[in-house]
Parts: sequence; C-alpha cells; structure tokens
Amino acid sequence: MTPEQPPILAIESSCDDTAAAVWAGGRLASSVVASQRVHEGWGGVVPELASRAHQRLIVPTVKTALEEAGVPLAEVGAIAVTYGPGLAGSLLVGLSTAKGLALGLGIPLIGVNHLEGHVYSVFVDEPHPAFPFLCLTVSGGHTLLTLVREGFVHEELGRTRDDAAGEAFDKVARLLGLGYPGGPHIDRLAASGDATQFALPSPRITNHKSRSVADFSFSGLKTAVRYTVADAPEAAGMAPDAWLEANRADVAAAFQHAASEALVGALSDAVRQTGVQDVAIVGGVSANSGLRAAAQEASGAEGWTLHMPAMRFSVDNAAMIAVTAAFKWAAGETDDLSLGAEPSLKL
Ligand code: KG4
Ligand code: ZN
Repeated sequence: MTPEQPPILAIESSCDDTAAAVWAGGRLASSVVASQRVHEGWGGVVPELASRAHQRLIVPTVKTALEEAGVPLAEVGAIAVTYGPGLAGSLLVGLSTAKGLALGLGIPLIGVNHLEGHVYSVFVDEPHPAFPFLCLTVSGGHTLLTLVREGFVHEELGRTRDDAAGEAFDKVARLLGLGYPGGPHIDRLAASGDATQFALPSPRITNHKSRSVADFSFSGLKTAVRYTVADAPEAAGMAPDAWLEANRADVAAAFQHAASEALVGALSDAVRQTGVQDVAIVGGVSANSGLRAAAQEASGAEGWTLHMPAMRFSVDNAAMIAVTAAFKWAAGETDDLSLGAEPSLKL
C-alpha cells in the first residue's frame, strides 16, 4: 500500500475476462480487461472456450498493461494473481503465466482470493472506507455480507442460500429473452419500466436463530418471475410473445426493485446492529443503477457512508487484485511457486 513499494503486476483470469493491471507508487497505473466475445451465442460462459481464449489473450493483455503504465517488466517487483474461486481451466492460465513471470524475474508471487479482490476494489480509488467496514459482495457467483476488519479478517453476517444475485439477474434476463450476461440488459430495460406493475416476493430471509443479519434466497424471486411470465399472458388473453413485448420492461423493473430493496434493507439492518458506519457494495451487481440509487438514498436518509467502486472496478478486473496484493505484500504475505488453483473456496 505504500508509495515505496516496487510496482506490482496483477493478473485475473478466473472466469471469462482476461485482465492485467499495474499498481505503482501507491496508486493504479493501468488496468486492462479483454472481455471474451466467444460466449455470446451460448447463453453463458463455456469453460473450455474461456480457457482457450485466456491462452490467446493473456500475454497481449499483460504487455498492454505494462505499456499503459509505462513500467518495463524489469522494474516489476511482485506478481499478483487470482488463484480462486473460478473456473479451473481459466484460473490455471493466469496462475501459470504469473508463476512463469515470478520465476523468470526472481520476484515474489502473491496469490489473491477473487472475492477478497472484490472486497478491496473500494481501495482502488479515493476516498476509501476505514476499517472495520461492512461489505456486501454481489457478483455472478456470490452474495455475501461481511464485516471486514484490518488484516483480512472477514466476519460473515449473511449470504444467499441458493442463487447469487448476479445469477438471478442472468436467469431472469433469460426468461425475458435477453442476452448474456443479463444484468446490464435488465438494468437498461428497467429504466423504462414501472416496478409497481408486478408484485414480486422479497429475496430476503431474516434468520432470527443464527447470528446472520440477513440471508437471501434469490431462487424464489426468480421462480416468481418465471410463473409471472408463464401465467400472465393467458390471464390477459394475449399470446406469450406479445405479452412479453408489452410487459418486459415492467417485469425487469419489478425484479430489479425487489432485489435492490432486499440487499439495501440488509445493509441498513447491519449498520443498525453493528454500529459500523462505513459500508461498501462490490462485485458485478454493484454496477446496477437501481441498486446504486437505492443504496445512495438509504445512506443519505440513515446517515451512513457508502463506498462503491467505479463501474469498471465493479465487474471483474485486475486492478482489484493488484490493490489487494499491495495490502498483502505490505503485511509480508507472499506465496511460493507451489500455489495451486482453488476453483471453489470461501472468503
Ligand atoms: O463480479 P462479476 O463481474 O463476476 C463474478 O465474479 O461473478 O459479476 C458478474 C455478474 C453477472 O451476473 C452480471 O449479470 C452482473 O454481475 N452484472 C450486473 C450488472 N453488470 C454486471 N447485474 C446487474 N446490473 C448490472 N448493471
Ligand atoms: Zn468477480
């Protein structure tokens, strides 16, 4: 984290984005993301295609990140890399590239947990939260509310019991005949829809027995959308396609509203229960404009401080891996070259 640290080159390849970034002089010097277009026709990420695309893209992406930072490879002081969770084949491409560079240059390797990377994405830009802070991680694979203390200590306050928030956005988008990834499509469409036209259940489960402030079930919300789309056309005496055409934006708005209210409601309760006033929302779904607006409104009304990464650091990127590695390196945490990929691991 200190300006005296030599530059860190970070690599992220856990899913379908091939990304590299350079952190130098205590700030972000470059961040490059090569999004893979090969999955678009498949309705989701195809693991085999993802690892092959990473193979093609990884070296050019790393080179571009170094060039844009104006940092020659010889000046890099450490290599950071995501080791999990993610797709095994995808992780191995990034991990092998990082090990090769660390071995060749004779410099330290720093393994970063992808979820921890999302959490620390709020440190890429100023102002950043003070420890301890509450962090809601909402991505394609995870929905998790934690209390983050200094030194990488994460206390879990709630999580999803089934689908992740981003997964629900993607599945609902599919039900509405929209492309993949679905979150940005729903976001755009919801802007012109009326959320009050459909009553959908809250994905929030308040767990009174456990210490959880909030658990979520996004699968129930998604199923409610499925039934609405299946049953409403007949009730309205319309052909399914025509009904969907006329109601797509309203369904998207109602779904986005239900998801945002639940997530922000859990944050508000967590602030009340813990007394912690610094709150972060990170991960791909934190790019959602409905969620951003609902969180801003609640933080203004309730007096807590909201931190969200810039949009390009909400979705997968290597800048968040670089800044996390800067913290780790400053704390003396490095890894040896036996570091293995861990496709599924908890925060
Ligand atoms: O963090 P991320 O890029 O990758 C994972 O670690 O999973 O998150 C990807 C997820 C996808 O489910 C995508 O649909 C969702 O983030 N997403 C959004 C938006 N942009 C991306 N969801 C809602 N609104 C958005 N604007
Ligand atoms: Zn991610």
